[in-house]
Amino acid sequence: MCGIIGCVGHGADTTDVLLEGLSTLEYRGYDSAGVAVANGSVDVVKQAGTIDELVSTVQGNTPDGAVGIGHTRWSTHGPPTDENAHPHVDCTSDVAVVHNGIIENYQALREQLEAEGHTFESDTDTEVVPHLIETELAGGAAPEAAVRQAVDQLEGSFAVAAVISGCDAIFAARHDSPLVLGLDETAGGDHHYYLASDVPAFREHTDRVVYLNDGEFTRLEPDGWTVTTLAGEPVEKAVDTVEWDPEETGKAGYDHFMQKEINEQPRALRQCLSERVDELDGTVDIGDLAYLNPHGVHLVAAGTSYHAALYGAQLFRAAGVPAQAYLAHEYATGTPPIGDELVIGVTQSGETADTLSALRGARARGARTLAVTNVVGSTAARECDDAFYIKAGPEIGVAATKTFASQLVALNTLSIGMAPSKDDREAIAALRDVPADVQQVLDESNAAAVAEQYLDSEAYFFIGRGHQYPVALEGALKMKEITYKHAEGFAAGELKHGPLALVTSETPVFAVVTGEDERAQKTIGNVKEVEARGAPVVAVTDGVSDVSRYADHVLSIPESSPQTAAVVANVQLQLAAYHTAAKLGRPIDKPRNLAKSVTVE
Ligand code: AGP
Repeated sequence: MCGIIGCVGHGADTTDVLLEGLSTLEYRGYDSAGVAVANGSVDVVKQAGTIDELVSTVQGNTPDGAVGIGHTRWSTHGPPTDENAHPHVDCTSDVAVVHNGIIENYQALREQLEAEGHTFESDTDTEVVPHLIETELAGGAAPEAAVRQAVDQLEGSFAVAAVISGCDAIFAARHDSPLVLGLDETAGGDHHYYLASDVPAFREHTDRVVYLNDGEFTRLEPDGWTVTTLAGEPVEKAVDTVEWDPEETGKAGYDHFMQKEINEQPRALRQCLSERVDELDGTVDIGDLAYLNPHGVHLVAAGTSYHAALYGAQLFRAAGVPAQAYLAHEYATGTPPIGDELVIGVTQSGETADTLSALRGARARGARTLAVTNVVGSTAARECDDAFYIKAGPEIGVAATKTFASQLVALNTLSIGMAPSKDDREAIAALRDVPADVQQVLDESNAAAVAEQYLDSEAYFFIGRGHQYPVALEGALKMKEITYKHAEGFAAGELKHGPLALVTSETPVFAVVTGEDERAQKTIGNVKEVEARGAPVVAVTDGVSDVSRYADHVLSIPESSPQTAAVVANVQLQLAAYHTAAKLGRPIDKPRNLAKSVTVE
């Protein structure tokens, strides 16, 4: 979704700090971008296009002032044009506002403001906010009171920040959309404060952060910061320390963040397992979560995280705990069967609106909730009864890669910890080997050569059974997300019930076949069916079965258990998608129409 940055205390460098922050937030949206800097007036530069294009525009014409806000947009209301880019201003250009979320009552507010004589320049819902502030200021309210009174009239989801001419402060509020403060304070009183949708925007400057909750309002000035309720009551806030380094949000010499993050998987998986798995004892340590003893588990998630949830549900069921995965938006808006199940939200960002809505609904019905997330301090982590961190480190590429692998490993750890069984020692030994197995795939993969063969294909299909079914779905999602080619994943057994009609010599089929059990044999049967229709077959396999006899290409993985083989096989599919997109010249880290964190329903 959109990215917000604000900074206080940088004097002449304010615009540069905002632009640097925006470039690290570009994964949240990249339709258009802009900055507003306040001094005696409010100077705004904004336009459709990328942050780099904005940087070129700003050069030689840098707005100057003590406080500023910036925004990178993923369009919801109105197309990506210069007019619709944030910040938006009021009729006098004394107020500038950036916003993430959707203001649901904007139409009524706009009609009311237009009737009062306000003129609008954009199609956005956001533009009502500066005009509301303008009205309050004209009525005699002080700047802070004017922003509070404007925010008070908004319905929907918002993280909103405003600057006002002649006032060295940023005012901001959140409701259902993330906002975090960064604090860089010195004994000499030379303070710098930041405000952003996400920590990477200011991590280079400080590791001390304050997470805002829904219904909170903040005021940042060069000599201090406050957090209050929207009604103005003071709120005591904890200051947290971010544990990852700023370099982790750079490309480290790779062409793309996605490529870097695929290659970071061995380290990410080691982090996820460290201090949780005791191979000698054959036990895992998941803290107090081990005592939850759930009678049933519902996993709610979206996109890639839903594929992890499907996989996790299989693990819990195998451990004797009834479990079901649900698409979060369906769970939130349907009538889910809910008794005393533990509801687990699987969400990399911890900010996905659909997943938060499902979790909130479950809590309201009395369920205990657990967030399996990557982001410490995220909304899911704070609102759920418990949080279990996947510890993958920051993920910038819009296409989730290392966080999917870490989700799978984290769900293994959780299911073993919550429902111990006699097979745990073997499962833990297999988990221990996953980082090295992934490294072997990264070192030896021939996915680039295979991708080269099929750049002109009209569609790509992916099949798998059991633990490899979510991997097939994920392989297809990665392929379609970053290549813009038609790709579908199927449960292998479902192929003959319809999808087989799509299979031709122009549609490569990626078949994930591990081990040689009944599932593997049946999938090999499906491979023969597609081969008989002339489809090229790419087998992702550990070589235990004879699937390679029926395949045109083999993407090899080391032999391991079906659960852990899923993590490793997925890496071959990530590489196939990555190399296909790279050879097609796609903007891999910023696929069209997508954003990293989807904070609207
Ligand atoms: C994955 O490549 C996608 N970008 C997307 O499907 C993502 O997994 C989904 O939006 C859920 O995000 P979350 O894990 O942050 O909740």
